[in-house]
Amino acid sequence: MNDIFILGIETSCDDTSASVIKNGKILSNVVATQKVHEEYGGVVPELASRAHQQNIIPVVDAAIKNSGINKSKLNAIAFTRGPGLMGSLLVGTSFAKSLSMSLDVPLIEVNHMQGHILANFIEDDGMTNPEFPFLTLVISGGHTQIVKVTNYFDMEVLGETIDDAAGEAFDKTAKILGLTYPGGPLIDKFAKEGNPNAFKFTKPRVANLNFSFSGLKTNILYFIQKQEKENPDFVKENLLDLCASIQFTIVEILMDKLKLAVQETGITEVAMAGGVSANSEIRERFRKTEKDWKWKAHIPKFEFTTDNAAMIAIVGYLKYKQSIFSDISVTAKARYSL
Ligand code: KG4
Ligand code: ZN
Repeated sequence: MNDIFILGIETSCDDTSASVIKNGKILSNVVATQKVHEEYGGVVPELASRAHQQNIIPVVDAAIKNSGINKSKLNAIAFTRGPGLMGSLLVGTSFAKSLSMSLDVPLIEVNHMQGHILANFIEDDGMTNPEFPFLTLVISGGHTQIVKVTNYFDMEVLGETIDDAAGEAFDKTAKILGLTYPGGPLIDKFAKEGNPNAFKFTKPRVANLNFSFSGLKTNILYFIQKQEKENPDFVKENLLDLCASIQFTIVEILMDKLKLAVQETGITEVAMAGGVSANSEIRERFRKTEKDWKWKAHIPKFEFTTDNAAMIAIVGYLKYKQSIFSDISVTAKARYSL
């Protein structure tokens, strides 16, 4: 069989990324993270779009160079069609369309959330692919879902957040603690040296396999406001313990529902996906639960958890093998369900 080379392009939020993949194996994966949003405490859509425009050509160039192949070898161009910020998606979509026309190769649209989930199929030493059907805990900055995956492109949402996503829970509480955006990785870093049982926060009561995180955020905000009345340096003096306790609570909420999903469905192949699956505590808890509960756990390699184009390229490869191509008239889609 001939080798299949796919270029993946990802520009849904604040990372400009391009990746070249050969038969499911990553040859290159370049990610340019936009630092401009840090000082604003969140992603500014207008600035994100502008930064994608500046980054897209150098990032795609670097991905092709690093892959060691000539662009004439590419069999198809895969790109993120949605969900995401419209101004950001438009940059990748327009670029992918132009490149597919100029190289005269098929264009493949990819749903960003499918990309996160199917990142579990990127070939890597020591990794085994999930077997169908499997459950995925999808945890990112915009989504928190438990998804049943029956086949590559047959996915069903069994439960999801009714308010904030898990990533927002990390980022918004980090903001309360005075940390810069995105706060998730910082909470992870400080939590390593803190006591997870120092402070108790209430876990939400939500029916079925759904999640809620906005109550936790308010709970933390009021707790800190109260403490600061007595001691203005409370956060500074307790930062490590606060981070560890907040992280512990968020991970507990996620793991409780995932265990319930396994109990209800009887499916024991369980995967993780999305930026929050970079979190060291949830990765550790996932491995421990695999042993205790006799699951088969699938955790994507660290660099394929937060937004990246390798996960878009792998979906491109899977679609290419089934000849699922897009028309050149395809447009970006900000709201795009699984
Ligand atoms: O998947 P992703 O890169 O972008 C979206 O599609 O939303 O996820 C970004 C989210 C942010 O909320 C970020 O704070 C969170 O993932 N995140 C983490 C960690 N690394 C990234 N949260 C907790 N611990 C981490 N180590
Ligand atoms: Zn994402």
